[in-house]
Amino acid sequence: MKIINIAIDGPAAAGKSTISRRVAGRLNYMYIDTGAMYRSVTLYALNHGTEQMFDNLNRIDIRFKNEDSGNQRVLLNNEDVTEAIRSKEVTANVSKVASYEAVRTYLVNMQQQLADEKGIVMDGRDVGTTVLPDAELKIFMQASPKVRAERRLIEERERGNQVDLETLTKQIMERDEFDMSREISPLVQAEDAFLLDTSEMTIEEVESCIIKLALEKVEGE
Ligand code: CDP
Ligand code: CDP
Repeated sequence: MKIINIAIDGPAAAGKSTISRRVAGRLNYMYIDTGAMYRSVTLYALNHGTEQMFDNLNRIDIRFKNEDSGNQRVLLNNEDVTEAIRSKEVTANVSKVASYEAVRTYLVNMQQQLADEKGIVMDGRDVGTTVLPDAELKIFMQASPKVRAERRLIEERERGNQVDLETLTKQIMERDEFDMSREISPLVQAEDAFLLDTSEMTIEEVESCIIKLALEKVEGE
């Protein structure tokens, strides 16, 4: 069977990471969460200052550790930051950090090295356009701002964070706007990406749809 790479891009809370993890599990592929990498560099900048982040950029080590449960842990310089990178502070600062050219060059290079063999499902904002432009299957995952904010609200409440829908909607839209309008590798649908609006779809439906598209590629068009 042919082994392919799958790139999944789109705005915040469209369902990219949930679906990418499941698709990777089904196909026995490796899942790479590029957002977690930008979040890790942001956490480093918050802890050590932006200047030190730039000075030490090439020494910032990010690794993914797969657990038997199927969950993935994120290690920043050997420290488990899986939960810390989802904090409010990191979320509020990540788009700014992700707009720096040096940060993008460093992380895109790391992402391409991680994907040196096929069999990757990678999600983010610029995977189909910049990181893996030759990926055999590219998905641009969308959902209405209302649906995305409602999905995030459930997650935040589960984490014990008291936020309201209005604030979350505003934060998501501001982050998308920033990601779409930055100079380097903005969030944009690749020309050859399949547009998938998940607003009215369950997780299982989205997963089946992408598996079907992937199998078409694997089995040859
Ligand atoms: O999970 P969520 O949609 O909240 O975001 P994420 O995938 O963890 O990405 C966090 C932020 O990292 C995004 O808002 C972008 O600013 C940045 N990012 C990026 O610039 N390029 C990527 N390939 C992935 C994320
Ligand atoms: O990675 P991204 O920010 O695009 O989204 P996510 O973190 O995978 O998904 C955000 C939330 O939406 C998760 O809690 C998913 O369980 C949920 N979700 C959903 O309810 N229905 C879908 N079709 C996809 C995701």
